[in-house]
Amino acid sequence: MVETSDEWITTRTGIKERHLAAKDEFTSDLAARAAERAMKMAGVTAGQIDLIIVATITPDMPFPNTACFVQHKIGAKRAAAFDIEAACSGFIHAVEVGQQFIMSRTYDTVLVIGAEKLSSITDWQDRNTCVLFGDGAGAVVLQNRPNSHGLLTAVMGADGGSADLLFMAGGGSRCPATAESVAARLHFLRMNGKETFKKAVQAMCTAAREALRRCELEIAQIKCIIPHQANRRIIDAVAERLGAKPGQMFVNLERYGNTSAASVAIALDEAVAAGKIQRGDLVLLIVFGAGLTWGAAVIEW
Ligand code: ACO
Repeated sequence: MVETSDEWITTRTGIKERHLAAKDEFTSDLAARAAERAMKMAGVTAGQIDLIIVATITPDMPFPNTACFVQHKIGAKRAAAFDIEAACSGFIHAVEVGQQFIMSRTYDTVLVIGAEKLSSITDWQDRNTCVLFGDGAGAVVLQNRPNSHGLLTAVMGADGGSADLLFMAGGGSRCPATAESVAARLHFLRMNGKETFKKAVQAMCTAAREALRRCELEIAQIKCIIPHQANRRIIDAVAERLGAKPGQMFVNLERYGNTSAASVAIALDEAVAAGKIQRGDLVLLIVFGAGLTWGAAVIEW
């Protein structure tokens, strides 16, 4: 489709493989499947879910929100449902919002999902971006159980002044769909990769340090660090600056590419399945995305 090579993609990004949803498979389908698996792991039925939050930049439609489609698909009839949009940082934002509802005792059981069909907004003629993104979903169930652990802190940040580094211009109120906007390929994402790279490393390190400081923790006390899976070189730069030990960072981007809001959710599930996170372990999530937005969360598993 574009002039590129496996060698360029591998050395510049670390990505070897990605997954694309089928034409008739939407973000809500991926989200519902992840939600059902998470509910099964948590031993929770659809009827128990009070709230569904979906973090995504690729909703099924501008409205209704994707969480409503998920609510219907999984049969969570009692649940309130809304989406959160913080691009690749969306999952931490959504988990923090979900946790606030539990801490305020508004809700008992919150389903948080990160889900994306990024292939639907990828410009397959733009080699700067089309080699990076994939589709996927991950989910968690939040509950306040006796003797339970969970989110110890979540740091979130934004810099709206850098919105022009990573965006999709078309389809919103600023630039509704017209024949011209489609012809100008404005309904695909665009990124200034180099600048985004630099800001990502800085923001992820700052957020991670702040999260550790709030919990009075040293990086060495963290069992598993799960960074947003955008680029192997970003992950390595963050690991080096934070003084992470070899193997402390969980990396699976070679098999998924950048799945935006789904990224750390998928990685969290894989890290647990691989036995890298046991009950009581401290986990550090670090994210970065369009907005710009960023965040870090410390979880006691
Ligand atoms: N194949 C071959 N060559 C390419 C490709 C490609 N797919 N893409 C770009 N190139 C070329 C460029 O044209 C450039 O050529 P030139 O030097 O002749 O101009 C050269 O390769 C180097 O390009 P750079 O942009 O400098 O490459 P860089 O090393 O910065 O890597 C990348 C690019 C992978 C995009 C990197 O900058 C990156 O990962 N950025 C951050 C991405 C990110 O974290 N995004 C945030 C989250 S995403 C979200 O919120 C949805």
